[in-house]
Amino acid sequence: MSTVEDVDPGRRRFLTATAAVVGGVGVAFVAVPFLKSWSPSERAKAAGAPVEADISKLEDGAMMTVEWRGKPVWLLKRSKKMLDDLPGLKDQLLDPNSEMASQQPKYAQNANRSIKPEVLVLVGICTHLGCSPTFRPDVAPADLGPTWKGGFFCPCHGSRFDLAGRVYKGVPAPSNMEVPSYRYLSDSRILIGVDPEVA
Ligand code: FES
Repeated sequence: MSTVEDVDPGRRRFLTATAAVVGGVGVAFVAVPFLKSWSPSERAKAAGAPVEADISKLEDGAMMTVEWRGKPVWLLKRSKKMLDDLPGLKDQLLDPNSEMASQQPKYAQNANRSIKPEVLVLVGICTHLGCSPTFRPDVAPADLGPTWKGGFFCPCHGSRFDLAGRVYKGVPAPSNMEVPSYRYLSDSRILIGVDPEVA
């Protein structure tokens, strides 16, 4: 049986060369994510560059999430029934008319808190202490009660929001969820992080 001492010099050179190649491959694998993390697009994203969302496959009542500035941004395609239920909730809400200006751009300061009524764009973070609420479109589920018309429920301390991100009265969250700036690039493409008037 051979030992390190009696390996012939030729074989030892081969082993050394193999180790160097393996080492080189290892370095290459490590280097790829490192370089990627410093690519201009990644740096721009982290700094808050706009993010595009394709909503062409979003069905009525469904929601998708994209990441913008390290935060989840929800895109919810509201059904007619979901929209019809919004006006009837006013008395239960803290800021039903979205008067707190910091929580949405001017063009979303309307009854549906959106540019197009059916598509809600919302930063998916609770305005209490920053948990991410759960999407609860189910009507009158046992745990949320018979008056629940669908909305977002924060499991951390029980804050409730309707399907426009408006906060209910009597919960810890002090304000409506934030609508980010956004604009439509086409009927099915939305750019998040840019106002409509910006080219
Ligand atoms: S973080 Fe949502 S209720 Fe406290």
